[in-house]
Amino acid sequence: MLKFISKPVIEHEEVPLADEGRLEALVEHWNERGTTPQRNHEEGKADYVISVGTSVAPVVRQAQLTEIVSLVRHQGDRVVGSEILQIGHANPRTLLGKGTAQAIAERARAAGAAMLVLDAELTPSQTRNLEDVAGIPICDREAIILNVFLRHARSRRARIHVETAQLEYLRPRIRGLGLDMDQQTGGMARARGPGETASELLARKLDSRLAELRRQSEKLETSGTTQRQGRSACARIALVGYTNSGKTTLMNALAGAYLSARDRPFETLDTTSRALSRHGRDVLLSDTVGVIRRLPGRLLASFQSTLEEVREASLLAIVIDASDPELDLQRQTTLEILRTIGADKVPRYFVFNKVDRITCAQTLAPWHALADGAPWSALCAHDMEAVSHLRENLLTAARVDEATYTLFVPYSAPQALAMAYRSCRILETEGERSGVRLRLECSVVTAERIKTLVRRRQ
Ligand code: GTP
Repeated sequence: MLKFISKPVIEHEEVPLADEGRLEALVEHWNERGTTPQRNHEEGKADYVISVGTSVAPVVRQAQLTEIVSLVRHQGDRVVGSEILQIGHANPRTLLGKGTAQAIAERARAAGAAMLVLDAELTPSQTRNLEDVAGIPICDREAIILNVFLRHARSRRARIHVETAQLEYLRPRIRGLGLDMDQQTGGMARARGPGETASELLARKLDSRLAELRRQSEKLETSGTTQRQGRSACARIALVGYTNSGKTTLMNALAGAYLSARDRPFETLDTTSRALSRHGRDVLLSDTVGVIRRLPGRLLASFQSTLEEVREASLLAIVIDASDPELDLQRQTTLEILRTIGADKVPRYFVFNKVDRITCAQTLAPWHALADGAPWSALCAHDMEAVSHLRENLLTAARVDEATYTLFVPYSAPQALAMAYRSCRILETEGERSGVRLRLECSVVTAERIKTLVRRRQ
């Protein structure tokens, strides 16, 4: 069961749909399928949340349940019950066995839930089959995360990214809407257009909207690249890490910025940058979208351009909530995502934040081991003296591996040339017949990337 908390998110000033009202009505219809008499419009819909897993340690399972419950609340619903469900193996048709699904649905209904939320990724057919067996609307992890992103998408860029992911998720689930059922006979109904069913009509509209969104996204990406090129010679530090770990709070403290930092997941969906200066040289500090365990691949893909910022940074400040008992899970999730987006070679600095929240019951984590040889600091983002030390350390680390190189870049490798101008401090240029010889200052990683781009062209 898919449930989106709002109509499609873009104000359609650039991309009017031929029949926009109809599309909205259909998405609305989708949302309304979960309605039951228990629904309370004031407090949000009542959900029963299940963390499904096969073989993870109990403490991790508890942390995962807490996380999904928190996400459900952040997307605006009430949680009336939750449980951890250990399954031996996943049933390919329904994920859960029939008896288990019916027993859980019974408990959920008894608790007053209108919907069952499963902390699992379900295929469209698994969702349909499970709904048939359990007799209650089902919502999976991806829909919940999309909803939370949807709530926080403010800028045009973020809204385009999230709507794209939302519609891509919706597209293969159109059949589950039951739009083609005839209300009177319970059989298939032919639709309004000649030969076109209601679900075919919706599919066509979604496809045309997706195509338009992709066009807009490409346009934005081009302008984003131009912006990054404009900030060429600056070293760049990107704050990355688990959602709610304190990246924006640190950004505010480090750069004297006033960005919204709140105790809720995915507060920041846009990359915001501020300059830090030392000895007349600027270093750009960027706050990036937070990560989460099992971040849906399509969201990751749609945020690729935002994540460019991370790939091209001189230094990644990996922020970890030190007071989280599962901080190693946070660390591993972040590192895994950095690997996925190809940013695992960028130098790192670990920032163990929120040390003021570590309780007596918690043992101090072995920061050194967690940083795995990279430099690190453990601090509270509200402690200005500690933040000031961190600022100095980051500025030093961001330049730590800079060196001077002389590179010949042929004109046939325009991407290499663009990267050199974008990411390096150019000291000298000498034009030759087939290219340009550059003396430049940059990090080892950047120099290697330029050389790779040159090699690929030869
Ligand atoms: P996303 O935008 O969701 O990725 O979150 P974020 O990583 O940017 O976290 P944010 O800065 O929004 O902080 C989340 C919450 O943690 C806010 O309520 C902050 O006030 C709080 N917080 C941040 N750093 C600290 C800290 O060192 N100590 C304490 N006690 N709270 C902190």
